[in-house]
Order: sequence, then C-alpha cells, then structure tokens
Amino acid sequence: MTVLFASHTARRAVTAALAATAAAVAVFGVSEAHAADAADAADAADAAQPVAVATAKQAAQSVPYSDVAALGKLIFNDPALSASGRMSCASCHSPAHAYGPPNGLAAQFGGPDLRSQGTRAVPTLAYVLNRTPVWTHVQAASIYERLTDADSPPSGGFAWDGRFNTLHDQALFPLFNANEMANRDAGDVVAKLERAPYAARFKQVFGETIFVSKDTALRQAMAAVERYELEDPGFRPYTSKFDAYLDGRAQLTASEMRGKKLFDDPNSGNCASCHIDQPGANGAHPLFTDFQFEALGVPRNPELRANRDPKYYDEGLCGPIRTDAAKNRLYCGLFKTPTLRNVATRQVFFHNGRFHTLRDALRFYVERDTNPAKWYSKDAHGRVVKFDDLPPELRANIDTVDEPLTRKAGERPAWNARDIDDVIAFLKTLNDGYLPAPTKPSAPAPTTLTKR
Ligand code: HEC
Ligand code: HEC
Repeated sequence: MTVLFASHTARRAVTAALAATAAAVAVFGVSEAHAADAADAADAADAAQPVAVATAKQAAQSVPYSDVAALGKLIFNDPALSASGRMSCASCHSPAHAYGPPNGLAAQFGGPDLRSQGTRAVPTLAYVLNRTPVWTHVQAASIYERLTDADSPPSGGFAWDGRFNTLHDQALFPLFNANEMANRDAGDVVAKLERAPYAARFKQVFGETIFVSKDTALRQAMAAVERYELEDPGFRPYTSKFDAYLDGRAQLTASEMRGKKLFDDPNSGNCASCHIDQPGANGAHPLFTDFQFEALGVPRNPELRANRDPKYYDEGLCGPIRTDAAKNRLYCGLFKTPTLRNVATRQVFFHNGRFHTLRDALRFYVERDTNPAKWYSKDAHGRVVKFDDLPPELRANIDTVDEPLTRKAGERPAWNARDIDDVIAFLKTLNDGYLPAPTKPSAPAPTTLTKR
C-alpha cells in the first residue's frame, strides 16, 4: 500500500507539469494555424488534439462562425428534438449558467414525461470542450509497473468518466438516453429535424437529399452541434476577474489573494495540483483542471433514485455507464477532474451532486478525514461507513495521499472557516462577466443566419 501511495503523490506532481506543457503546446499550435479558422479548430479537435483559444484577446479575434455551427446552435437549443418536446441540450446546459445546470438538482429529470431522473450532475460545458484531451490510459504491463508508474494515470475524454472522444459521439448519448431526450432511434430524431423550422437551412448546408439517409442526417446534425460547441466564443469568454488579473487589468483583494495562496499551497489546500491555475506558455489562461481522473470518496447521495438500490454504485471509469475500462480495478471509482471556472455559480457539486453549496464542497475536502462522521452514513451497528459510495473492496482506490486528504480523525482540518471564506472569494474571481470581452466578436449567430 505504501508503494501505491508514494506513486500517487509523485504522479500528481509530474502530471501537473505535463498538463501545463500540453496546454502550452496546444496554444502554440493554434496561433500558428490561426486560431481564427474555426474549421481548422474543429478538424483539429476531431484529430483529437487539444486546441486552445487561450486568451480573451485571441477569442475576440475569432471570426463569426460557420453556417454549420449556426445550425448546430439551433439544434442545441431545440426542445422539439426530445421525446417530451420540452427538453433541449440547453435545458441542462443552460447558457445563462455557464452551460451548466440551471438549478440545484443533483441530477436532472428527462424522458418522455420529464420524470426520469439521471444519475449524474450536469457538468459545465464552458472552457473544456476544445481543450479536453482524448481519453488516454497506458495500460501497465505488470502490477509493479502500475504501482510505480509516474506519468500515465488515466486522463481525458468527455463526460465524468471520459467515455467519449469526440463531441459528435457525445451528443448522440443524451438524444437517446431514456433519462434525457429519450428518442427511439435515428429515424425518430431525423423526422423531428425534417419538421423543424430550420429544415430548409439544414438542406442548404448539407444538400437537398440529406434527409434520405437517416444515419447520415443524424451524423451531420451531431457534427453541426460539435462545430457550434467548438466555434462559439460564448463557450469560452475569458471575462472573469481572474482573467483580467492575469492580463494585468485587475487586482485581487487581500481576501482573494489569500484564498489563492491557500488554493495553491501544496501543504494546505493543494487544490492547484489538480485544478491547475498557472498560465501556460504564450499566455494561455488556465482552466483549473488537469483532465485527470481521481477518486475523492464523495459521499453517497440519497437524492439520487438510483441509490435506493443498495447494490447500485456509480464506479466512474468502471461503469455502469462506461463499459470498456472496468478491467483495471485500481481505477474503479475515479471521475474526471472538472474545471472550476464559474464554479461559484453552480448549485450542485461533484459527479453525484451530493453538495449544494460551494462551502460544503470545500468543507468536505478539508474535513473528510478529520471528521468522517459528518459526511458518511452509518451501518446497522451505528459505525460510520467511510467512503460509503463505493463497494468496500474498491475503497482502497480513494485518494488518501494528496493533501488535504491525508489527515486522521480528530486532527485539525487544513482550513478553518476564515480560510474557506477566502478560498470562496478567490473562486468567485473565476466567474465570467467581470469585464466585457475586450473586442466584440459581433454577434455571430444571427449574422450568419440572416446571410443567405
Ligand atoms: C437531462 C439533462 C441533459 C441533457 C438534455 C443534455 N445533457 Fe449533456 N450532460 C448531462 C450530464 C448529466 C452529463 C454528464 C454525463 C456523464 O458523465 O455520464 C453531460 C455531459 C455532457 C458533455 C461532456 C462535458 C465534459 O466536460 O466532458 C457534453 C459535451 C454535453 N453533455 C453536451 C450535450 C449536448 C450537445 C446535448 C444535446 C444533444 C446535451 N448535452 C443534452 C446532462 C444533459
Ligand atoms: C487529487 C486531485 C484533486 C485535488 C487535490 C483537488 N481536487 Fe477538486 N476535484 C477533483 C476531482 C476528481 C473532482 C470530481 C470528483 C467527483 O465528482 O467525484 C473534483 C471536484 C471539485 C469540485 C466540484 C466541481 C463541480 O463542478 O462539481 C470543487 C468545487 C473542487 N473540486 C474544488 C477543489 C478545491 C477547493 C480543492 C483544494 C482543497 C480541490 N478541489 C482539490 C480533483 C481534485
């Protein structure tokens, strides 16, 4: 066990550095290929390169987006594409909430009657979509290699469990998921597209005969959604106070600055070891994630209906939703590190939506081990079941080596109430809308739509 623990710590240090390098490389790639060329950006993402429009300045330079992306925006916002007729992508990924959930529900309700509850919290789509690396996991050849491996933890891919490598594949999932938009098959979706107010536009962009093959039409619709997600600068405005601070256009208050120090300090919060906050080379503003997977031991959430079954566990990489990575039992219970940009605007936190205030999420980090009784349920004998949201045999996978997750019951938490206040003040500087985007990219969607 000690070997495993030591390797975990080393892994984090190395990979944080690697992630920073990757971001830097991505930015160079973009500026050389002209970040303005949205088609290039989409193609590059298809080719599974992390692509970055790194700074507000670069974002503002991007051209109005393509006809395909404009169509994708209409699809993204169209509730008629769901079985209920009342749910679009934007219902869960609300543009007014950093493309995260518009409410505090642990998981949203979908299906034909909007009564089927999902099993996971809605992640934000802001910032991460064009920077998420493809799923990578170098399978170790031996147990020794796995335990001592310093630089190949699983990382990347879309969703909490990294199971999609492209946005067009990802977009198919909610369209057919019974808890979400709940369509029966491709024909079902395409019939709705043919009836849509933008059907003529769809034909103009993809050809008069596009609706003949249901599969092709569906594929193109998803490609359009992907292009919208990659091209629309609204997904990555870089207008937070923290961005202004990095550009030398704003100063952090004493409290915000203190919060940042606590967030960065490897012996205190140590948050920045996973939620990277250092700019990359070439001025790439950080996204507050390293896109790697980790098991934090977030407590079981009784608000999720799936959890009424005591045998149901969401094991992240090991399923039940993801089905191709369960062989490596060391990785069961791991979920992808989310961005913390706009996190202070959320009302629901972690993959299972267990917490509803940022303060509780932060308290959990620093008190998980010092006061487990506060967080976890009790068994029939009244004993606290630490890490109760994973089956007993997988609890060893949970991180107990990275600060602040290393303490013992009864010890002093890494942060006190004032520290938490300051970290919250710092995290609030990650909310967009502090400053307007420096140059207006001139309302791309309507322009492209009216231009015939
Ligand atoms: C009922 C709510 C709901 C609807 C509707 C919905 N999503 Fe999601 N979305 C989620 C949840 C929950 C996740 C996390 C899924 C997981 O981890 O398995 C997610 C994940 C994603 C991700 C991955 C984000 C990341 O950081 O990896 C993308 C991209 C996305 N959704 C796009 C879409 C698109 C496009 C649509 C419409 C076709 C859509 N969503 C419809 C709830 C929803
Ligand atoms: C070892 C890597 C690691 C460290 C260190 C870490 N985090 Fe996280 N963070 C994660 C992962 C992984 C998740 C998602 C876990 C899950 O949902 O099961 C997460 C989720 C979160 C969330 C919820 C975000 C959302 O959208 O739901 C917040 C808030 C957060 N972290 C803040 C912090 C703070 C503050 C610190 C420092 C005290 C910190 N993290 C330290 C990896 C880390």
